[in-house]
Amino acid sequence: MPRQKVTKILAQAYERGLAAAAHGQVATYIPELGKANPLDLGISLCLPDGTRYEIGDVEKRFTIQSISKVILLGCAIDRCGAKAVFSKVGMEPSGEAFNSLVELDLRTSRPLNPMINSGAITVASLLKEVMSFDEFMEITRKVCNDPDIAFNEAVYRSEMEHLSRNRSIGYLLESKGIITTGVEESLDFYTRMCSMNVTARSLANLGVTLAMDGVEPFTGEQLLPVRTCEIVKTIMLTCGMYDSSGEFAVFVGIPTKSGVGGGLLSAADDRIGIGVYGPSLDEKGNCIAGRPVLELLSEELELHIFDKADVIDEIRKAEERERARSERGNVSVRSLRHKGARTFMPFNVKDTGKD
Ligand code: DON
Repeated sequence: MPRQKVTKILAQAYERGLAAAAHGQVATYIPELGKANPLDLGISLCLPDGTRYEIGDVEKRFTIQSISKVILLGCAIDRCGAKAVFSKVGMEPSGEAFNSLVELDLRTSRPLNPMINSGAITVASLLKEVMSFDEFMEITRKVCNDPDIAFNEAVYRSEMEHLSRNRSIGYLLESKGIITTGVEESLDFYTRMCSMNVTARSLANLGVTLAMDGVEPFTGEQLLPVRTCEIVKTIMLTCGMYDSSGEFAVFVGIPTKSGVGGGLLSAADDRIGIGVYGPSLDEKGNCIAGRPVLELLSEELELHIFDKADVIDEIRKAEERERARSERGNVSVRSLRHKGARTFMPFNVKDTGKD
């Protein structure tokens, strides 16, 4: 797609996002976040070859907040193993707010997924045993290709002083035997990881690394295992936008994670990483500009996970090849997508003699 066309689409997305931003509010339950300008907006796209398309406040620093849950999950699967992680936390959307405790208290024996606070505090309790926060921050700098990511002491302190809800979640987890050691240490790790300063550009870098199944496009280094990335992206798609995840999957269709600092991280497989910064939030705590921005980008750049527009030609060609072959036997064409390449595999259908 010509550069000019993408630039035009991005400008349109920015306009739509800005219009939406006027209808949201910045987070205030962490008082330091209340200082953000609700009309800030930045959109950064990074392609697998390192090409960037950007508009607005893409270099402005803000705290990563819940987007760090994606890196936390990746590190925990890597260091502790998927089995250990998912023995403590589920893989199901909660349908509740990100900081809810009701389902944990009344309906489940463990947090429903690692993207809600209860799930992430649980995963932090596991990771803190094998990784220091400094190492975690160093890994974050690497996967975001951003050596300037620093710890935001003011936001950390502000959240620690208003931690009643997460502290309740932590002790409920302990009462249920899910956190077995160090509730306060787990909460501290969790709050610290939410307090790292990123930019929309660093999130786009992280997005493209996930889109490329762990390969960092600038160095070609495999930073996370392929299987880990697949799990993380699936959970982003089903749970990353909390109780908006279903709608978001239908209308945007790109694995995405939000943070109350205003960030959004999206990873469209094999195609693009997207980072958005817009601190004006909707009632679910997600960047309110995110939906119109990502919906437009998804539609115009054909990024929806089930968008087949770019493969129609290949399907047709495969069908023609198979039609010729089917004359020799009963072969039907079925499209199967393979990692890294669009190929279509036929499979044999047994001749029942009925038609
Ligand atoms: O634990 C909290 O409440 C925050 N540190 C993070 C929540 C968050 O980012 C929810 N996302 N939209």
